[in-house]
This record gives sequence, structure tokens and C-alpha cells, in this order.
Amino acid sequence: MHDFKFKNGELYCEDVRVRDAAVKVGTPFYLYSHNTLRDHFTKIQKAFAPVEPLICFAMKSNDNLAVLKTLANLGAGFDIVSGGELKKALRTGVSADKIVFASVGKTEEEITDAINAGILLFNVESLPELEEIHRIAQKMNKKPKVALRINPDVKALTHAKITTGTLKNKFGIDLQTARKILRSAAKYPNVQLSGLHIHIGSQITTRAPFLKAMTKVLEFLDVLKKDGVALEYLDIGGGMGIIYKDEQPQTAQDFAEAVLPYLRKTGLKIIMEPGRFIVGNAGILVSRVLYLKDNGFKKFLIVDAGMNDLIRPALYDAYHEIVPIVETKARKVKMDIVGPICESADFFARDRMFPALNNGDLLAVMSAGAYGYVMASNYNVRGRPPEVMVKGDQFEVAKQRETFDDLMRGETVPSFL
Ligand code: LLP
Repeated sequence: MHDFKFKNGELYCEDVRVRDAAVKVGTPFYLYSHNTLRDHFTKIQKAFAPVEPLICFAMKSNDNLAVLKTLANLGAGFDIVSGGELKKALRTGVSADKIVFASVGKTEEEITDAINAGILLFNVESLPELEEIHRIAQKMNKKPKVALRINPDVKALTHAKITTGTLKNKFGIDLQTARKILRSAAKYPNVQLSGLHIHIGSQITTRAPFLKAMTKVLEFLDVLKKDGVALEYLDIGGGMGIIYKDEQPQTAQDFAEAVLPYLRKTGLKIIMEPGRFIVGNAGILVSRVLYLKDNGFKKFLIVDAGMNDLIRPALYDAYHEIVPIVETKARKVKMDIVGPICESADFFARDRMFPALNNGDLLAVMSAGAYGYVMASNYNVRGRPPEVMVKGDQFEVAKQRETFDDLMRGETVPSFL
């Protein structure tokens, strides 16, 4: 379900006409639906209610404060991957003991800050990292909880660039090493080895890879039990796929029905880290048509948003539905929908049948809520677009458009030039 719908021929986000938001804030801009966020979060919460999981929103997918606050208000915790995300998460007022911290490259400063904040769990991705956390904790006279992120060596059946759970990927600890670590817990008196973590990839639309991974987890937990290792948490990561085009991903309910029996068997406290499932379809990128160009061979609809605003098509060949925000009778022709950036990879759609819009017409790139703004850059000295949140018939800019002054902050010409 999402709350972007056509009413009387115009696209609305909840009760706000997208055109009205565009007039107010200019283009391009991201628009988020509060109600959609709430709905998706609640769907997971309800589906998994039997194990009462802590749902830690993967804030790498969208770290806008309005989005984070919406979810924190609903009881979400956060899955973070950097010291910056830690600070931003804490700005929402969330309790630090609802924060879990993954990342293969945590620095001393990040580890220190997270221990000081009192986060729930470090999801540890290697033996040297565990030793570093232990060293720092010892120095601080603390004993943080850690979970080992295990690499189950399972293919996620998704795009290669977002597969994380095979031994070809840099993530997690192979099972043999993880077992060795857990058996030698006495070597690490300043950490509590409290759990296991898995995350095998993103935009996974079928349950098979999850179940394969869960089977491996259960087998591994059995081995650990025989070793006399007792744990408290199992963090099952994120990865649930959404609809971009014609995918038929499992619903939260289907997913829960399949996974719950495994989770119950573990007897552990469950943590989940969904990102895309919650926010993917809760956001759109609105852009304005600049030109329709025809080079005799091909047509290009040139819009004012670019790959610096939304890089998913360029980086992953990702498909995003695109719609004119006012229904049109304009003839559909085959075209590329592209941005103004000086790169051939700067496209939103290739060879798409799309109405031949006019200069000034507005269109929306759908399902842009996850890994959209967060991956935006200032390439070509372009300020990042504003982020706007809608709740019912209200909308407000939650993050301002970057100005040229913002972009120049901290940049100077060296004195020797
Ligand atoms: N937990 C961990 C440890 C992760 O690495 C990720 C995503 C998640 C949770 C959330 O996964 P989700 O529920 O959103 O699938 N930029 C790419 C996706 C990168 C995913 C990175 N890790 C994209 O635009 O498709």
C-alpha cells in the first residue's frame, strides 16, 4: 500500500496535491508520505507480533529526521552504520538501547561514541574488529554487548551489488571463525558475546534465500549449544523486497508466516532491520521537464533531476516507474528520460513508452524513498534537493534545498595559489 494516488487526474500524496507542493518548493524535490511509513512499519510489527521483535529501521535507506522521528514515535529502533548515523539517530530522542551498529569498518572514534551512548549491540563483522572493540571497552572499563554478524554463504537472488551474504562479499564472519570466537569468549572479558546477526542482501523478493539462511542459523545455533555457548539475541537483518515494476514480493504477513517457526525455535530475542520495505514506496522524486530532444535516432526527455539526486538507475540499472503528475492525453512515444548531468549513465528510464510532455510539465519518479536522497551527491556542483513530508493535508519542508553557499562551506583556495 502507498499513499500516492491519482484523484481527478492529478497525483496526490495523501491529501496534498503534488503540484501544490511543487509550486511551493520548486523542483526537483523528494516527497514522503507519513501515512505510508506508518502503514509499512505497522505491517511488520503486526506480522511479527508473536516474537515481539525490536524493529530497527535501517537508516541508511533514508535518514531524513522527519522519517526517523515518524518511526521512532511508532517504537522503532535504528540500525546504524556510522558515527554520523549514531548522532542523527539520537537526535530523534530514541533510546540508545534500541540502536544496533553494523559496518565492516568501525573506527575507534565511532566505537567509543557508541559505547558511551550505550547502544544495544555492536554487530561485529570480523575478528580484528572484535579485538578492537574489546581493547577500547577495556580502556573505558565498559562491557558492551556484541553480536557476531555471520556470513551464511547464501545467494540472495538479487542484484550483485546488493548481495552481502556469500563469502565473495566483505560482510560478516564465516561460520568456522565465528564458532572459534564464541568458544573462546573468555578471551574477551570486556565484551558480552550476546548474539548472532545475519543480513544476506537487499530487495529480496522470494522467501527461499531467507529460509536457507535461517536453516543455516538454526544448524549453527545447535552447534553452539553443544559447545555450551548461550546467546540472547538474533538479528535477522533487512532485505525484504518491494514492488518497483512487476515484482511480486512476499507480504510482511507471508514473510512472517514462513520465518516465524524458525525464529520461535531459536528462543532468542529477535531484532529486525528493514529499510526499503518501510520507506521505499513511501517517497517519490518530483522533477520538471526541461526539453524534449529528438536527434533523429532517439528521443530524450530531459528533466531537472539527475543521477546526483537519484543514482539507483545509473548504479544498479534499477527500474523506477515514472508518471506525469497530471494525467495527460499526450501521445506516448519511446524515449529515454534523462537528467542534465554530463554522464551517459545519467538516466531514469531507457526506451520507455512515455507521453511526450512539454517544457514545464511535472513528473514523479516513484518508489524513490529508499536509497534515494541518502545516496545523492553534489556532482556537477548541484545542491541536493529538498525533502518534504506530507501528513494528511499538511506538508512541510523537512530538509531545505542546498544553496550554493552550502556547497562552498569549508572550501577555500590554498594561500600558496
Ligand atoms: N541491515 C544491514 C546490515 C544492511 O546492510 C542493510 C542494507 C539493511 C539492513 C537494510 O536492507 P533493506 O531492508 O533496505 O533491504 N543502495 C542499494 C541497497 C543497499 C543495501 C545496503 N544494506 C539500493 O539502492 O538498492
